[in-house]
Amino acid sequence: MSDEELQPTTDMETLVSLCKRRGFVFQSSEIYGGLQGAWDYGPLGVEMVNNIKRAWWRANVQERDDVVGIDAAILMHPMVWKASGHVDTFSDPMVDCRNCKGRFRADELSSDVCPTCGQKGQFTEPRMFNLMLRTFLGPVQDEAATVYLRPETAQGIFVNFENVQTTTRKKLPFGIAQIGKAFRNEITPRNFIFRVREFEAMEIEYFCRPEDSLRLHQEWMEERRRWYARFGLRMDRLRLRAHRQDELSHYSSATSDFEYLFPIGWGELEGVAHRGDFDLTQHAKHSGKALTYFDEERGEHIVPHVIEPALGVGRCMLAFLADSYAEEIDEKGEKRVVLRLHPAIAPIKVAVLPLSRNEKLSPTARDIYARLRKHWMTQYDDAQSIGRRYRRQDEIGTPLCVTVDFQTVEEDQAVTIRE
Ligand code: GLY
Repeated sequence: MSDEELQPTTDMETLVSLCKRRGFVFQSSEIYGGLQGAWDYGPLGVEMVNNIKRAWWRANVQERDDVVGIDAAILMHPMVWKASGHVDTFSDPMVDCRNCKGRFRADELSSDVCPTCGQKGQFTEPRMFNLMLRTFLGPVQDEAATVYLRPETAQGIFVNFENVQTTTRKKLPFGIAQIGKAFRNEITPRNFIFRVREFEAMEIEYFCRPEDSLRLHQEWMEERRRWYARFGLRMDRLRLRAHRQDELSHYSSATSDFEYLFPIGWGELEGVAHRGDFDLTQHAKHSGKALTYFDEERGEHIVPHVIEPALGVGRCMLAFLADSYAEEIDEKGEKRVVLRLHPAIAPIKVAVLPLSRNEKLSPTARDIYARLRKHWMTQYDDAQSIGRRYRRQDEIGTPLCVTVDFQTVEEDQAVTIRE
């Protein structure tokens, strides 16, 4: 089937409503009308987010002998962002509507008609708008005290290149991985957790010899595709698209995006960028420190090149949610929602469901619940009919349900396990 014929599994409204109803994702500060571009992860959402991060860390740090992790501070010296190019070039073109005062990204408008008020020809000339969020350190709020909330976690890795290399004595090629919050003052945050102002990123900077970089760029794309397949993402809904020259970030000499068929259509899920020696060279220039690597084979100092696979945890969660979403009609003709999540990604691994609230069943069921939850995220549910409880677990992607019935307590101590 061609990309054009494939349809998203569901629409965004359905996912947003499922996420709110079941406690995956809530709007930030909802009781005050919400804060645009920020979302809160609820009891199931935080489990799923942690599972995604764990699955990524395990595959990219724990299981590899050439990648180590770090956790750098969100706040960094302001010179970092000057050197990285973000102060001067990390911006989007923005226009205002003179009529309704709405603000839009100029490159996302397809005509001169305002999408909010419908007026034609009311846009101001485009102005560049820097996407970094600013704050002040200490009691004086002036230019000298200005710092930024990091717009990417990558720079925490680049400025620690030497620290990590000398403490771990890793030889090229090697990578440094990090998971952490990043912030972008998006002009138009939208589409639920797809485009947000506060997000969590999972990034690897993989340092290598320049001559190996094109091969390793390809290898990382293959590696990342294998990771998505390992955790059950359907491969026909994942595609790679190389950036055009005019789309490349200021630091990148080549980037390919993994795009996923989200409910809003094909959209970026992960970027695999070739950053060349841009960042280490820039930081060496601005800090005065030589950020080089002594290549024993050549007997000389070189500036490594960098391959960067980078994705947002929220977008990844949205892809897994959308990908696993299915609606089925049961034997009674009722609609049933099922999330077919990989067990490693599912927020709850086991549900313990006594057949009823009968006092003969509860002690055994509660004992099983107490034993299981030492090992896995487990839920106990004895409210309403067993059929409804199965449906509640289907809807949140729980891979195993343990049912305790009278036979369990009176005869064989055996439970029924439903997958
Ligand atoms: N570091 C990758 C990005 O900012 O998109």
